[in-house]
Amino acid sequence: AENSIALTVDTAKPGATIDRHIFGQFAEHLGSGIYEGIWVGHDSPIPNTRGIRNDVVAALKAIQVPVVRWPGGCFADEYHWRNGIGPADKRRAGVNGNWGNVKEPNTFGTHEFMDLVEQIGAEAYISANVGSGTPQESAEWLEYLTAEDSALAQERAANGHPAPYKVAFWGIGNESWGCGGAMSAEHYLSQLKIFSRFSRNYNGAQKMQQIAVGPDGGDTAYTETIMKAWKNKVWSWDIGGLSLHSYTLNGWPPVVKATGFGEAEYAKFIHETLGMEGLIGKHAAIMDQYDPEKKVALVVDEWGAWLAPTPGTNPGFLMQQNSQRDAILAALNLNIFARHADRVRMTNIAQMINVLQAMILTDKEKMLLTPTYHVYKMYVPFHDATLIPVRFDAGTYRFQELSMPRVDAIAARDKNGQLWLALTNLDQNQAAKVNVALLPGGTASAVGQTLSSARIDAVNTFATPNAVAPVAVNIRAVGKSLSIPLPPGSVTVVNLRP
Ligand code: AHR
Repeated sequence: AENSIALTVDTAKPGATIDRHIFGQFAEHLGSGIYEGIWVGHDSPIPNTRGIRNDVVAALKAIQVPVVRWPGGCFADEYHWRNGIGPADKRRAGVNGNWGNVKEPNTFGTHEFMDLVEQIGAEAYISANVGSGTPQESAEWLEYLTAEDSALAQERAANGHPAPYKVAFWGIGNESWGCGGAMSAEHYLSQLKIFSRFSRNYNGAQKMQQIAVGPDGGDTAYTETIMKAWKNKVWSWDIGGLSLHSYTLNGWPPVVKATGFGEAEYAKFIHETLGMEGLIGKHAAIMDQYDPEKKVALVVDEWGAWLAPTPGTNPGFLMQQNSQRDAILAALNLNIFARHADRVRMTNIAQMINVLQAMILTDKEKMLLTPTYHVYKMYVPFHDATLIPVRFDAGTYRFQELSMPRVDAIAARDKNGQLWLALTNLDQNQAAKVNVALLPGGTASAVGQTLSSARIDAVNTFATPNAVAPVAVNIRAVGKSLSIPLPPGSVTVVNLRP
């Protein structure tokens, strides 16, 4: 059955800017997320620049990664930055107690991370150790990174980087309600005030924002406590954002399969991910009470599909395949973030390479781009674009007792004045057709790409790396509107031409 949907793009009523940081990434010392995935070392036969894989850098540049969060995650609250600087052969190895008790060689440290973000053209978001570190350790790390002239600045220069680094975001801990120390909101607040006060950015060429730990999913204790204190602040501590973590996982521990799942699992999973809308709404409403001018951003700095680990891999490495379903999940979340762009100004999907809902998978010298990567590539025009309202009757996709919209859509005008439309067909069984009318003025033509697959659980493998990849979409003009075909279970991005 053909499901025709009339959609109006109202260009006369532009909305908020979709901050490019919404398309941010997260890379933790976890499994092969850093070692192998990014860092292969100077002497590796895998082509690299100063130890960092060239293939991965090129792929990340192509999706214009705006920001990378590092070094964790839970790892961050046990990370001591001094172990990761200086001559590689003198670095002290540790144990990665959070993720498989494997050796942490510390060969990828501060300089290597800053080199990575420089190579891909992204900003740095560093999470400081609050759980097992001290305010002094955090303060000294930031001074080491950003000071012009001090003993720590000289040490940085001696380690090869005389110029102060630019740090855009400083995270004060990670999941302090959980792996970061199981702190009550009040306890964390007292830590936040101290860490935020003493962690200073000395590089005047880069404005830095501090990000506080915020809610664990729907729990509002941290949101209430921190935003209330922020409003009544008495001394000079400030935050640019409050972090929210929320994974799509259908219960703990994660057992949803990465491939070989049926429609019941598909529908349940997609339905759960749409809950991001209500979750953001809930926390944003509390933030509005204390911060109606929306000065503090809600930063969703961990989200994505958390699935059962790939059979035969170390379960502590959180390796999972990435299917067309996950591409749909990514697009739906990005659309939700864009619609909340006035409050949600950064998000970081977990995680960039080889871990959870990754952009890229590597196997020694081989690399593949996942369906989720392709969504990020297709959405590049939405970076820093202006949200444009769309009106449409989404229809309904039903599976047994679950019902959800059949189609989701956002529109935006990019910095060059071009108009873009992103459309997701959630229904894995039925195609849809979207008839676009543009107000005012109409539209003459459109070009775009669609990501779809005959199977909703289709993945890219090292043997067939291009099984799921975007193709050009065939758009027809019908009178004063355009007809855009949406295959079942697909993501489509089109450029509307006047
Ligand atoms: O992304 C994996 C883990 O999930 C992170 O380390 C932690 O912050 C979260 O619980």
